[in-house]
Amino acid sequence: MDSIAIRGGKPLHGKIEISGAKNAALPLMVASLLTEETLTLTNLPHVADISTLTNLLCHHGSLAVMNGQQSGAGSSSGRTLSLTARDITNTEAPYDIVRKMRAGALVMGPLLARVGKARVSLPGGCAIGTRPMNLHITGLEQMGAEIDIVGGYMEATAPNGLFGAEIRFDTVSVGATENLLMAACLAEGETVLENAAREPEISDLIKLLRQMGADIDGEGTDRLLIRGVDRLYGTEYRVMPDRIETGTYAIAAVITGGEIELLNTSADLVRSVLDVLIEAGADVTESKNSFIISRKSKRLNGVDIMTLPYPGYPTDMQAQMMALMTIADGAAMITETIFENRFMHVPELSRLGANITVHGHSALVRGVDHLVGAPVMATDLRASVSLVLAGLAAEGETVINRVYHLDRGYERLEEKLAACGADIERISSGG
Ligand code: UD1
Repeated sequence: MDSIAIRGGKPLHGKIEISGAKNAALPLMVASLLTEETLTLTNLPHVADISTLTNLLCHHGSLAVMNGQQSGAGSSSGRTLSLTARDITNTEAPYDIVRKMRAGALVMGPLLARVGKARVSLPGGCAIGTRPMNLHITGLEQMGAEIDIVGGYMEATAPNGLFGAEIRFDTVSVGATENLLMAACLAEGETVLENAAREPEISDLIKLLRQMGADIDGEGTDRLLIRGVDRLYGTEYRVMPDRIETGTYAIAAVITGGEIELLNTSADLVRSVLDVLIEAGADVTESKNSFIISRKSKRLNGVDIMTLPYPGYPTDMQAQMMALMTIADGAAMITETIFENRFMHVPELSRLGANITVHGHSALVRGVDHLVGAPVMATDLRASVSLVLAGLAAEGETVINRVYHLDRGYERLEEKLAACGADIERISSGG
């Protein structure tokens, strides 16, 4: 297992090109199951989850062509992926894939809508919480599906096809909104999704589905109205920029006291994160498709945050902001409302000298003068990158073990940081 070694304390200066958004690309790729024609996606990030999902789609019978070449298992090196699901030859999404990447469960709605059946592994628990599937299941049942849980799998059939329904989510769920949105496009009649997620990745999916011929109203609101159509068509679509990668590198600039220009993204995508950074002592200069961020004052101020569904502060940026708050003056109360167990990074940040106390869903961070490098362990994707950020600010060497989590979601992380002056290297264990 690879590790990453960082010798911290260097202010980062330079430009970083933001990749396409993993969390937008995954549902867009799944949407290819809704048509027999070819869907071509551009601006894909080079991250492990993209190849894992490509493998799943091929398993269902899709033909995948990456940068003009037929894509084999494990390939993740292209930017442009064409997916053609002419025939669905297999409707099972196996445990081995869905366990690694929960987004694999998004195939359930599209498979049901297209061929009337799907057998999808339950994703199971993960490091950040139990993450149930009840909203996906009850929504599809309201649309006419019959779903049984057998041997860890959701066995779903829709013998008479799916039909429109009025569905109200009692919790805002990105995945359930995406799953039902895709299913509703090919269902008979009108579907209304109330209390739907409003994340920009949902808007990206709606734009693509419309381009494929879907009839959807309410983009950007929590009430989506979908009028089912008989068929969808192939198209070409560019994946939106990754707002979590954008926010992460913005914090890298501020935590090291440097200045970074983030390219191919926009400040609007990370408004709630920038608001906190500005309050903490950052300076932001915005342009149309880029912005420059730096630390204005020598010391940072502690700022309280609470994670919320979009447009609130994103849970996927909670760990990174906590890393910043460990060296701010005063205290910061960080409250996590989306996942029940998303403070796995706390003991690891404490190893670097952070002063953090967890009380239920809140963590009280009392800023310290400086962090000191130490060996730490990555636990999940965003927790891992918070340790990288803390390591960039810490004095001495930080070695982060189990970095495979990072490779799921951050493209060429070490390269992008090193180009701005970070002393960072990957140590390959060869095993
Ligand atoms: C997506 C993102 C993930 C992000 C999360 C919240 C992708 C691939 N992943 O995950 O990075 O952290 O949104 O912004 O886009 N819930 C239920 N029942 C369900 C489904 C969800 O109770 O059937 C709960 C979850 O346990 C959680 C909350 O709803 O507490 C939000 O989860 P959800 O928005 O569904 O997260 P994902 O779509 O899995």
